[in-house]
Amino acid sequence: MRKQTAVTLLAISILLLAVVSFVLVRQIDTGTSGLFPSQSGRMPEMGMNPNMGMGGEVTTELVTSTEKEKELALPPLLEGTLSPDGSISYTIVAQEGSTQLKEGNPTQTYGYNGSLLGPVIRIRSGQKVNIQTENSMDVSTSFHWHGLKVPSKVDGGPHNPIEPGEAANLQFTVNQGASTLWFHPHAEGIAGEQVYEGLAGLIYIEDENSDTLPLPKEYGINDFPVVIQDRFFERDNQLDYARAYNPDGIYGDTLVVNGTINSYIEVKNEKVRLRLLNGSNARNYQFRLSDNSTFYQIASDGGFLNEPIPMENLQLVPGERAEIIVDLSSYSTGEKIKLMEEDVPVLALTITEETTEEPSSLPTTLNIISKGDDTGNPDKVITFSGMGHMVAIDGKRFDMERVDLRAKVGTTEVWEIDNAPDMMGGMIHPFHLHGVQFKVISRNGNAPPANEQGWKDTIALYPDDSVRIEVTFPEKGIFMYHCHILEHEDNGMMGQVLVE
Ligand code: C2O
Ligand code: CU
Ligand code: CU
Repeated sequence: MRKQTAVTLLAISILLLAVVSFVLVRQIDTGTSGLFPSQSGRMPEMGMNPNMGMGGEVTTELVTSTEKEKELALPPLLEGTLSPDGSISYTIVAQEGSTQLKEGNPTQTYGYNGSLLGPVIRIRSGQKVNIQTENSMDVSTSFHWHGLKVPSKVDGGPHNPIEPGEAANLQFTVNQGASTLWFHPHAEGIAGEQVYEGLAGLIYIEDENSDTLPLPKEYGINDFPVVIQDRFFERDNQLDYARAYNPDGIYGDTLVVNGTINSYIEVKNEKVRLRLLNGSNARNYQFRLSDNSTFYQIASDGGFLNEPIPMENLQLVPGERAEIIVDLSSYSTGEKIKLMEEDVPVLALTITEETTEEPSSLPTTLNIISKGDDTGNPDKVITFSGMGHMVAIDGKRFDMERVDLRAKVGTTEVWEIDNAPDMMGGMIHPFHLHGVQFKVISRNGNAPPANEQGWKDTIALYPDDSVRIEVTFPEKGIFMYHCHILEHEDNGMMGQVLVE
């Protein structure tokens, strides 16, 4: 009898303790105060439950999906038409559709030339390109080529909206080296929603260097596009931007890679190249391999790094890209290794076949990029500040009628970009600049990490950071710079530089 009472008491106290700690933990992770100070120093966790108080079971923490594993969807390579003058023409149509993302109801989505995401536009350096852009949706949009060095009338920022039913023809010459870029809508105030609902595609630029480097380059065999996004699905499998909305950026609990939930690829035990794009509205990723083995970053936003960088961890902020090589030569058929975001699988690499080829080593030189000069004073200082609806650049919100900065075409400048100290702890703002690839020359007075010593168009600004970049605009016109948390951008965390 006595023993039973004691056991019962113990059980009750354990239960009570569990309930109390559960409630405490939930209060912390739903952030009931609405303030999200940086808790782990350099990597603030900014998630706030968008569905707070609506039943409680929902969270913006990523969870491992229970959907059946599916083979990773591969975006089609877009076919172009070659003209006698040597130029190549493509058509890109922004459209509405529905996509079977989860079991059950299909999801209403947007896509380019399809119901979700877009094709890969694979073009060569030096190529003359025509792109016919069409908007068949019933909302205004624009076609922005993130990372492409083009004149501003081609850039597709908020100055170039395409209304429903309208079209525009763009012409440009590819004026940069091999790289993985992307395209997405950029119409004023609605970029976040349109990307969230599916508008994003990839651009591959290839050149002689990428042709000759001994790297994996067979599309869908050992060279894979990996567009990583997080989404929050409502009970009926729909995406509801308004319900998921958070002024500090939308977070979802489900990872969707190339539009596939719980995805895998089948590969040989050889080197595999993954072209990673953080296409999320707001989430920062910390990638690693499931067995914590070393992988190699070979390219940053604007192309190949000087040499492969061995790493166990890779951070990508929204808009950023990295190409990595995962060497599977020490694994055998039947083994599976996963790309992880912390403890959540992003993509499984399943080895289904032994390679017959001799393992080769990675090239030691991939590119030749000189270091920027960090000795002078900055020509411009730009300050990012605030959170939520208070975000600003140099204390101002975006105004399409206002020129914030001026620069001269072809002239090299040093820009210092600061993330202002914030009483609330601040947050990471991904800084992005249009129309150019720049070099990071210092971070808080120190040399940037090895994987940032290549061409960049998007960089993380941690709270209190002061980063210097070297910029040379190749084209004239008006170009945006902004936070790539799309809800910050839509809320006016954007400025414009007039290049003359
Ligand atoms: Cu990726 Cu201004 O955008
Ligand atoms: Cu851009
Ligand atoms: Cu921001």
